[in-house]
Amino acid sequence: MTTATPATTSASTALYAPDEALVRSAHVSGREAYDRLVAEADADHEAYWARLAREYLDWKQPFTQVLDSSQAPFFRWFGDGTLNASYNCLDRNIERGLGKKTALIFEADDGQVTHVSYSDLLERVCRTANALKSLGVKKGDRVVIYIAMSIDGVVAMQACARIGAIHSVVFGGFSAQALRDRIADTGAVLVITADQQARGGKHLPLKAIVDEALMLGGCDSVRNVLVARRTGGAVPFQAPRDLWLADIVAAQSVSCEPEWVEAEHPLFLLYTSGSTGKPKGVQHSTGGYLLHAALTCHWTFDLRPEDVFWCTADIGWVTGHSYITYGPLALGATQVVFEGVPTYPDAGRFWKMIQDHHVTVFYTAPTAIRSLIKAAESNPAVHPSRYDLSSLRILGSVGEPINPAAWEWYHEHVGGRRCPIVDTFWQTETGGHMITPLPGVTPLVPGSCTLPFPGIAAAVVDETGQEMPWGEGGMLVVKRPWPSMIRTIWNDPDRFKKSYFPDEFQGRYYLAGDGAIRDAKTGYFTITGRIDDVLNVSGHRMGTMEIESALVGKTDLVAEAAVVGRPDDTTGEAICAFVVLKRNRPQGEDAKKIAAELRDWVAKEIGPIAKPKDIRFGDNLPKTRSGKIMRRLLRSVAAGEAIKQDISTLENPAILEQLGQTY
Ligand code: WT7
Repeated sequence: MTTATPATTSASTALYAPDEALVRSAHVSGREAYDRLVAEADADHEAYWARLAREYLDWKQPFTQVLDSSQAPFFRWFGDGTLNASYNCLDRNIERGLGKKTALIFEADDGQVTHVSYSDLLERVCRTANALKSLGVKKGDRVVIYIAMSIDGVVAMQACARIGAIHSVVFGGFSAQALRDRIADTGAVLVITADQQARGGKHLPLKAIVDEALMLGGCDSVRNVLVARRTGGAVPFQAPRDLWLADIVAAQSVSCEPEWVEAEHPLFLLYTSGSTGKPKGVQHSTGGYLLHAALTCHWTFDLRPEDVFWCTADIGWVTGHSYITYGPLALGATQVVFEGVPTYPDAGRFWKMIQDHHVTVFYTAPTAIRSLIKAAESNPAVHPSRYDLSSLRILGSVGEPINPAAWEWYHEHVGGRRCPIVDTFWQTETGGHMITPLPGVTPLVPGSCTLPFPGIAAAVVDETGQEMPWGEGGMLVVKRPWPSMIRTIWNDPDRFKKSYFPDEFQGRYYLAGDGAIRDAKTGYFTITGRIDDVLNVSGHRMGTMEIESALVGKTDLVAEAAVVGRPDDTTGEAICAFVVLKRNRPQGEDAKKIAAELRDWVAKEIGPIAKPKDIRFGDNLPKTRSGKIMRRLLRSVAAGEAIKQDISTLENPAILEQLGQTY
């Protein structure tokens, strides 16, 4: 391999040409190949996706219809075809001779490693699927999975898919209240969890939180709780509702005929934050979703049979769905699954694991990179240069914009200047990559997600839907439906329409909720951040309203609250809460104490990831004379910027000074 060299020296416009060898060998090989795919999709969008759906998936009943727009924006893809996601991820790989191949290399928090072959995985999935059936779980039933990164977690998801049950994974960092809300909204019949989770050398509760959630009410649909043993710690157990997973699974047969479902049958629901209201249950399909998960693994990561892929995301987020549970397995790849955290036992953990498992394609989040840069600067022993990372050939980034400095460090110190970085822009709602470089195609610019994935009609438009000239910012939209798009919001089709297919665009364009700008010369996309009240903290999506309603839910203390984001060096954005108490504005030690109490409260209501980093108290919030909270002003205050806004309409300018103090 030759070394990629910058074509220009300016950081933000530097173009790193793709490696020649990669251009020749990649699945999408060279710019002409990319252009041909784009042209094919433009010429006949449906024929393009139909071809790929036939190439990448095995269908029980082949589809004859491709796209059905008759109920737009409730689009249907491959509607009369039937398939099974678990069959596509397991059985067919074994039929192709990959039974003995390692599917999962699981590394536990304490460093213990377990290899699971495709045959082993199928056996475990079938046993678990049969266990679910024995408990009366049927096609279309919802199963909530509240578990840490584990083989059991991947198996549980695949087992649901095998019997046509709809899984909804809830990230293990969410609180009992947040878990309850999701269980209640899905109407789940069963919850799969573990006794505890092991993270960073500590044991944290899972089963106890499930019990608490179920006691909060509204979860009468839940008949059973299946508990995996992870730590062996003592947990509350309530027979006959609760069952040990190992016990019930041991009694099951190792084969389970897949449930052949229609392409549109929901594969999963995954809750994500919006700008208003409660988190929304994003519904994904089986056929279209699985196609894009597999296809993007093949093209964006250029996955080959000999690769060892590692996506560091948690299965509680969409990245863990598409790039752990479904995409890599659909391709018969070998992948690392990691239980722990990047900083335990030290901040060299990722680099050591890449070295130990000879990882070739590594996919992580900018926030992790930034925190590991900091760690390496203060402790040379955990610098990536101390490890043998020569196995790496492609790097990926996901979840938030990657700042050019972090990009350059990742490129130089992790990728040895030899590995392309695919900066993949997408969302929970899009199912898979939307705008991303392809390793054998795209010259790279640090901080830009470059060009649309072939077949994705991404564009930057103004409020009327007019396309912006290159070089001018606007809203990111997708002008044509694509197979892995969100199908609806569970229990709330109206919200689906309003959020994603607003009237401004005559219901034709999918509105991503991000701002974007295309480079005047290259047409490359750069994401400029959310255009709604959604924050991105360490790559985790949080609604400001959600945090506000948690805060004002502390009715004994809080009168009013406004939450905004501010830039943060490590987490990208940080949560800043402006709070008015029902009693006098606290100061000094008193303010610190109350701030700590409010943080604990938010952790309890939503989860520790939603804890405000800054809390500021005022006698009031800055409002216009008509009583509207001046959020833009609050954003400036939170960021510590000079106030440039017109504050002449501000009801009470004196409170700006009070709000300057952070607790
Ligand atoms: C939001 C979606 C994508 C799966 C994980 C997050 C931001 C995501 C990028 C990127 C700039 C990015 C956007 C998007 N985002 N990837 N490569 N560059 N911004 O999924 O929780 O649904 O969040 O994350 O703001 O809308 P999510």
